[in-house]
Parts: sequence; structure tokens; C-alpha cells
Amino acid sequence: MAQLWGGRFNGSTAQDAFAFNASIGFDRRLFQQDIQGSIAHVTMLARQNILSVEEKDAIVDGLEGILKDVEENRLEIDLSCEDIHSFVEANLIRRIGDVGKKLHTGRSRNDQVALDMRLYTRERVRETDGLLKELLVVILSVMEENLETYMPGFTHLQKAQPTTLAHHYGAYFEMFRRDRQRMADIERRMNYCPLGAGALAGTTYPLDREYAASLMGFDGVTGNSMDSVSDRDYLIEFLAALSTVMMHLSRFSEEIILWNSNEYQFVEMDDAYSTGSSIMPQKKNPDIAELVRGKTGRVYGALMSLLTTMKGLPLAYNKDMQEDKEVAFDAMDTVKNSLSLFTGMLKTMKFRKDRMAASAMNGFTNATDAADYLVGKGVPFRDAHSIVGRLVLYCIEKNTSIDKLSLEELKEISDEFEGDIYEAVSLKTCVEKRLTIGAPGPSAMREAVEKNKAYLELS
Ligand code: ARG
Repeated sequence: MAQLWGGRFNGSTAQDAFAFNASIGFDRRLFQQDIQGSIAHVTMLARQNILSVEEKDAIVDGLEGILKDVEENRLEIDLSCEDIHSFVEANLIRRIGDVGKKLHTGRSRNDQVALDMRLYTRERVRETDGLLKELLVVILSVMEENLETYMPGFTHLQKAQPTTLAHHYGAYFEMFRRDRQRMADIERRMNYCPLGAGALAGTTYPLDREYAASLMGFDGVTGNSMDSVSDRDYLIEFLAALSTVMMHLSRFSEEIILWNSNEYQFVEMDDAYSTGSSIMPQKKNPDIAELVRGKTGRVYGALMSLLTTMKGLPLAYNKDMQEDKEVAFDAMDTVKNSLSLFTGMLKTMKFRKDRMAASAMNGFTNATDAADYLVGKGVPFRDAHSIVGRLVLYCIEKNTSIDKLSLEELKEISDEFEGDIYEAVSLKTCVEKRLTIGAPGPSAMREAVEKNKAYLELS
């Protein structure tokens, strides 16, 4: 077992203690970032004359060789090492000899792991942003094609007012757009390099931290070396943002599960994204949507886990922080898979527009519009509300709908009803008259679609 320390020890670590302590089983996935950080570190050391150019070149060559060999499966990460940092350093020394022992000059594993994790997280923030964008492209294309696809809008899961599929999807466009903005915010705030913080109190070598940071695309360096090695705020922010992405995906999934049910039949899932039952031959289940909804909990769990890990830690580094990785990696992978499967499912899902419109037509979704009609005839809204309430009760008793009543029946409840009521409470009118910004009326929605399109072209 390769470890980077031992000088001050007489005995060796108990095997189970070593295994409990080791992180290579999961931090192995930081190997690219670890090598990238080490290359930047020695490049800076040479520039500051702390290493000679020849030493730096030998180390960089060795590190690049390790990277290539691992990537091309010629070198396996040795799981008997303590962590990825030990593996890379031990392998480097094996390759290039004693000069490899200079790699760790002016550095601690504390600032090293802080850097690796930040580099890795930055990549995953960008990747999440890209996946969110792909989802937005699919949502927008559904919006564009369904400006006049009528459906009921719900409150309390009860039919409320008619809307359109474009409008309903438009709500999710806003949510996932905000998720992308959160990714950009996180990157902006986290993009400072902790390398050079050392174990906790900087180093006595004349490191040029800003130069090393610039080699890795950071906007600058972190401000305080104690904070640098013990800050995991950026990861907590990312997990919070990922939790919000999952919350949005889960709400959308829940709706798709409902829409796919026998009662609604608003959508037809593609065979590629549904599964059958081993016993009930009629079944076509929305498993992908259910799994996305189900996996939301483990992402929230990761956030709670890391918040709890951090809450009692004194400055600066504590080994507890090693616990940031497994939960964070799992959350990142879960969101990645959920986003890409959800996007595929959405892309292939077919809408039963006839069912949606029929559903919007019953359930009194035009009751507000009937009241507004009376307001147009001079009836105060509160009275109009009560008149239409009575109208609805009458319809329920007769098992019919407002638009199917005769003018005589309507006039019996209010004399203000005239022949133009039928047009006023038609589905088309109900939707078309809703023209305030953000409302489902087709011209308002067309504007929203144009804005969304421009947004996707720009970012
Ligand atoms: N595996 C450790 C972690 O993930 C690396 C840092 C170790 N530092 C230390 N002082 N033991 O946090």
C-alpha cells in the first residue's frame, strides 16, 4: 500500500483502519483534475525558480504519461493506494525517479484536494448547464407547435381555467431557465483557485498563485488560506441547485404520470421509454418518469448530508470533508442521467390533443369567463361570481355544461345573458382573450416563444 507519510510512525496502520481511511475507491475519478492541477503547480514552481526547467519538464512528461496511460487503459488505478494523490505521486516517482519527489514542494493534499474537487465540480456545473439547454430546446419546440392546443389548467388538481399546452410547457421553460442561471451564478462565485493555500497557512515558498490559477482558467485566487482548504460552499450550492433541478423534473414527471394514466390519456409514451408488467398484459408504465421522481430524494439527501458534515467543523481541514465526495458524485450522476433520459422521453412523447381539448371543455373551466361576460354587461364581479355559481349548480343537477344551456335557461338565472354568451364561453375565446404578458393567449405566447428562442440563441 502506497502512502505519502510514515516517517513519524513506528507501527503501521491497521488494515481495517487503512481501508476506512482510504478514499481511492471514489476519488479515483479525480485523476484528470489531479494531474491537471499538478502540471499547473510545477509549471508555476519552475517559473518561480523553485524547480529547474529540466525538473519541471521531467515531472510534466511523467504526469502526461500517467494521464495517457490511464485514459488508454494501459495503467490501472491501484486501489491499494490511500487516495488518488498518492497513486499519481507514487506512479510518477516510479516512472521518473527521485525528481518526482519534488512534485509536492509547496503543496499539501489539503489544497490539492480542494483544487481537484473544484476543477471537477466546475466541469460538472458546465455539463449540467448543457443538459438543461438540451431540455429547453425540446420544451421550446413543443411550445412552438402547440400554441393552440387547448387543455385544462388546474389548481388544487381541479380543473380551473382553460389554457394551452404551449403555456403549460412554458412554465417549465421558466423553471429550467432559472436552473441554468443558477449554474452560471455558481460558476462565477466558485471560479477562484485554492492552490497555494498549503495545509492551512500558505507556504514559505514564493509561489505565484495567480499564475497557477490562470493556467487552469480560474478568474483569480481564493482570499484566505484557511478558508481555501475548508470551503465546500460551492459544492453545497451546486447540490442545492441540483436538488432544485430534480424538484422541477419531479413535478414534470408527476404530471406526465398523470397525463399518461387511463383517466387522463393526454399523452402516449413512446415504447422506448415505457415498460410493461410481468403479470398484467395491458400495462404500459411510465417508469422513467417515476424513477426521475423517485431519484429526487437521493439528491436532496446529498445536500443534507454535506450540510450536516460541514456544520460542526472547526477550521481548517478535517478528514470529515472527505465525505463530500461520494454523495456529491452520486448526485451529479443522478441528475445527469435523469436530465438526459427525461429529455429523450419528452422528445418522443405524443399528445392526444382531442382528449386534452375535450377535457378542457368539461369541468366548467369557462366559469370565470361567464362571470367576466356578465361584468361586461355591467354586473359587479362579486354578483356575477354568485350568478355563475348558481349556474354551475344548475348544470351539475342537469348533468350538462354552461355552453349547452338554452338562452331561456340562462335568462332564468340572469336576465343579462344574451345570444353572444356562447361565443364568449367557447374554449377558443376563453384562451384567446387572455393576452396579458405571461398568459396563454396565442399572441402573448407567440411573444414568449420568440423571447425563449432568442435566449437559447444567445446562451
Ligand atoms: N482524501 C482526502 C480528502 O478527500 C484528501 C485530503 C487528505 N488530507 C489530509 N490531511 N489527510 O479530503
